[in-house]
Amino acid sequence: MKKSEIIEKTIDFARNKLQNFESGHDFWHSYRVWQLVKKISSEYNFLDFLVIEIAALLHDLTDRKFNNNSRKNEKIIYEFLISAGIDQENIKKIFYLINNVSFSNKNNSKNISDELKILQDADRLDAIGAIGIARAFSYGGYKKREFYNPQIKPKYNMNKKNYKNHKSTTINHFYEKLLSLKDGMHTKIGKKLAIKRHNFMFEFLHTFYQEWNL
Ligand code: ADP
Ligand code: NI
Repeated sequence: MKKSEIIEKTIDFARNKLQNFESGHDFWHSYRVWQLVKKISSEYNFLDFLVIEIAALLHDLTDRKFNNNSRKNEKIIYEFLISAGIDQENIKKIFYLINNVSFSNKNNSKNISDELKILQDADRLDAIGAIGIARAFSYGGYKKREFYNPQIKPKYNMNKKNYKNHKSTTINHFYEKLLSLKDGMHTKIGKKLAIKRHNFMFEFLHTFYQEWNL
């Protein structure tokens, strides 16, 4: 199969699997991460882009927030990759990327592969800036969280369990996570894009408080 055909097939598969997902984690999130991955990859000229592109399109299919049976999903993805003619070595690489991209894995070490750096940067870029703001409020709404509550202060340095269980506001999520993403960027293009998006979130928060505290 030609690369473009494999990508086409992967897009169809991802779009189908991500139907009716919360709008911050739907197919369009995967699509944007795929676009970002291609943009960031231009910094590197020696990588196997097909593996990263496929991982970008499939990276959220096993997310435990939305799937209580991620084992079963892994099997479906595996079978899909076989049907698309991907060999075992590349399948292994794709699963390594999908399983390690998440923020909550705290896999921030500098020893990760270049492919994972690109995918992590792309996924995190989509969590900040104007789109990041939209996604945060979409997810907050899905979880029935308040936009803001002056009495609930942000909690810093939570461990993985507390991070998942902590009931907070969406505005607090900016302090607990989103405003720290800029400093964890691995790639040059990622850093550049992150600064722009970060500053926009900062401006948004400023205006939000101005409107709140008349
Ligand atoms: P990851 O899958 O990389 O661990 P998440 O799924 O937690 O990261 O975050 C993905 C998106 O969901 C981000 O855009 C993030 O802002 C949003 N999100 C996650 N947790 C919250 C929250 N508590 N409040 C608002 N948005 C959230
Ligand atoms: Ni994602």
